[in-house]
Amino acid sequence: MPEDPPLTGEHADPAAIEARRTAFGEVASAYDRVRAPWPDATVDWLIGSPPAGQSRLVIDIGAGTGKATRTLAGLGHQVVAVDPSDGMLAALRRSLADLPAEVAARVEVVASPAEELALPDGRADAVLVAQAWHWFDTTRAGAQCARVLRPGGWLGLGWHVWGEDTGPDGWLEELAEIVGNPEVAAGPGAEPPPSLRGGLPDAFGPLERRLFAFEHVLRPDELVLLASSWSYVQIHPRREAVLAAVGRLAHRVARQTTGYADPVLVLPHVSDCYRARRLP
Ligand SMILES: C[S@@+](CC[C@H](N)C(=O)[O-])C[C@H]1O[C@@H](n2cnc3c(N)ncnc32)[C@H](O)[C@@H]1O
Repeated sequence: MPEDPPLTGEHADPAAIEARRTAFGEVASAYDRVRAPWPDATVDWLIGSPPAGQSRLVIDIGAGTGKATRTLAGLGHQVVAVDPSDGMLAALRRSLADLPAEVAARVEVVASPAEELALPDGRADAVLVAQAWHWFDTTRAGAQCARVLRPGGWLGLGWHVWGEDTGPDGWLEELAEIVGNPEVAAGPGAEPPPSLRGGLPDAFGPLERRLFAFEHVLRPDELVLLASSWSYVQIHPRREAVLAAVGRLAHRVARQTTGYADPVLVLPHVSDCYRARRLP
């Protein structure tokens, strides 16, 4: 889900950014339940499209509650899930208990920031960063990614952004206004996200980009929970009022949505994905 600029530029406020960067652990359960998933095909592309049936060693940095970690392990890969947030990692560990034992056994959890990975040099086949690169010191984290990858390994970076608003009454724009983040309704731009515009370290080859569209279907109460997990809503001074307004919108739109047995909202998503190879 969109993570909202401005994290950079003249309007960026370092204290507010730090508050948002560290706010995830407080809402880890809600985050895990309602944030958009990372589907198999998207994750497979991000780690370099390995041949079917071949297991890879993948480091999932900024793994959070493990939404991409679980996809990776389910695909048969060995995963090192890295995140500095105790709250997010606790939710990740809890979620492993719901997986088949042989899938959960493929996941190792490491508490660490991206900028100081206590992992060996040149061993990983891929590094995945799902919805988290913008929270890193990208110069230091980029150097760490280059260090832990083997030559020819892949760095994959992905962001979920909202897709085209095809629902009743332009409701996505209204949602963006309510939560105080009008930019998120703009969809994927022609340019990479701001945190990637400076490029990657020289150790990486050219960036490839691919967009994956999907629909995130939510009940009205789940949209409220989802909004409560957005970092800019977590620290909003009128958080409860914002969430109440999201709830009113969600119920109104769900009544107008057709084609589903239950009242739901269809949040169009695009996963804006990038990958590059570690040069020899
Ligand atoms: C939006 S969540 C993404 C979680 C997960 N990858 C997903 O797609 O659901 C961002 C995550 O980045 C983590 N994070 C923030 N700063 C970080 C840093 N410097 N190094 C590593 N992870 C960081 C947060 O704790 C949070 O779990």
